[in-house]
Amino acid sequence: MERTTRIAPEEIEHQLELCQRTAALTSSGPEQPLAFVDTYGCQQNEADSERIRGYLAAMGFGFTDDEEKARIIVINTCAIREHAEQRVFGNVGALVHVKRRHPELLICLCGCMVQQPHAAQKLRESYRHVDLVFGPHALWKFPEMVYGLLTQRGRTFELTDSPGSIAEGIPVVRQDSIKAWVSIMYGCNNFCSYCIVPYVRGRERSRKPEDILDEVRRLVEDGYKDITLLGQNVNSYGKDLEEPMDFSALLEQVNAIPGDFLIRFMTSHPKDATQRLFETMAHCSKVAPVLHLPFQAGNDRVLKAMNRRHTRDEYLQKIRALKALIPDIVLTSDIIVGFPGETAGEFEDTLRVLEEVRFDALFTFIFSPRRGTPAAELDDPTTREEKLARFNRLLALQDAISEEKHAAYIGRTVRCLVDGRSDDTRWDLTARTPGNRLVRLTGDASAIGQFRDVKITGANKWSLFGELA
Ligand code: SAH
Ligand code: SF4
Ligand code: F3S
Repeated sequence: MERTTRIAPEEIEHQLELCQRTAALTSSGPEQPLAFVDTYGCQQNEADSERIRGYLAAMGFGFTDDEEKARIIVINTCAIREHAEQRVFGNVGALVHVKRRHPELLICLCGCMVQQPHAAQKLRESYRHVDLVFGPHALWKFPEMVYGLLTQRGRTFELTDSPGSIAEGIPVVRQDSIKAWVSIMYGCNNFCSYCIVPYVRGRERSRKPEDILDEVRRLVEDGYKDITLLGQNVNSYGKDLEEPMDFSALLEQVNAIPGDFLIRFMTSHPKDATQRLFETMAHCSKVAPVLHLPFQAGNDRVLKAMNRRHTRDEYLQKIRALKALIPDIVLTSDIIVGFPGETAGEFEDTLRVLEEVRFDALFTFIFSPRRGTPAAELDDPTTREEKLARFNRLLALQDAISEEKHAAYIGRTVRCLVDGRSDDTRWDLTARTPGNRLVRLTGDASAIGQFRDVKITGANKWSLFGELA
């Protein structure tokens, strides 16, 4: 396999130097300049935005959520479904007025959406108030691009297509002080026929284990309690390393880091989720008893058309093996309803999988054609109404299962991580079970950031309710 391109440390040092030069340019006024970073999409994008914030902080920016107060706005976009793109274009369109009021404002768009040629073209032609557009491959040189904008003016588009690289040493400003994302790999090689991700994020490439372990060690020292290892397909971690290692070995090494913390990971692909992974989860005490294992559809013809490279039976077999090892495993999944040509009968097969597995929660989507993917070219005779009806049936079935599974917690005392204040005023705090179910509870805010026993006293389909024991 081709070796992964790694950005030289001197290159990142040069970017940090440009941060300082940028700070000298923007800090002339009496007030600290502010940045607004808006993130769409998945956890990988959240993690990327933390790097963008890290660079912005090094450039001397503070942060705001108010567009009117910002000197620079960065919108980190997603391309996974049409709806995600429409929201971005709507919000970017509205910024034209903000820019009119504040001509100094720099507007930057980055992330998966802009890496698609048709989206970039639309921005170039019809969104002339946008100053900088750069794809995921160019994130590491964000300071260079901002510095260029400030010194030469002129719009910049940095969208070179690439299999991707790995850059270490980019500063991060994290959004949370209890839970942290740690990217362990980037890109995807799977080319599921509906999915845009491999086209915009490049090929699978892994960070070195020592860099990941260093990052986790520092997070634990800083008091982080809940660490999620991120990648589009974490089960294929390590195949491209000079000294190849697998994801289970990485999990074991992260698990061996001293401290009281939980390890989560996502996403896993069923074709690469092995017995060895399940055994590793079972014997690593810090690995949370939860698996997000997307199956997308319950019918083999549809799975094949999706290029998922696993069958329904293989999937169910893996779930059975995992449940045998970890009986209280919390299971979640992604499902696409209305893949082109999916028949009413084929959709029923998806419902049967729900009944057999009894997931704790699901992320369900109606198929959205993505330009350039094979599935976008397929005949799709099913009406929108029919797809919506299927979608609603799926939700109703899952809601009933989630409600039953949540009700089974009532009366139990569960060691949870108290992670914040509740936005629902009837409850003081929120917490997460080891399986990541949301608990709303009464209790003192001094518990935030701690693992505490919580007595579960109630439940509905979305969450559990309780009190500090
Ligand atoms: N790498 C992960 C997640 C990728 S995106 C995985 O393989 O599971 C998250 C989810 O979005 C996917 O699991 C899929 O259910 C959904 N999705 C991706 N492309 C889609 C499309 N074109 N239309 C509808 N849903 C889609
Ligand atoms: Fe998309 Fe499939 Fe890769 Fe997930 S595994 S990111 S669904 S191509
Ligand atoms: Fe994530 Fe959306 Fe990109 S789901 S990988 S931000 S297309």
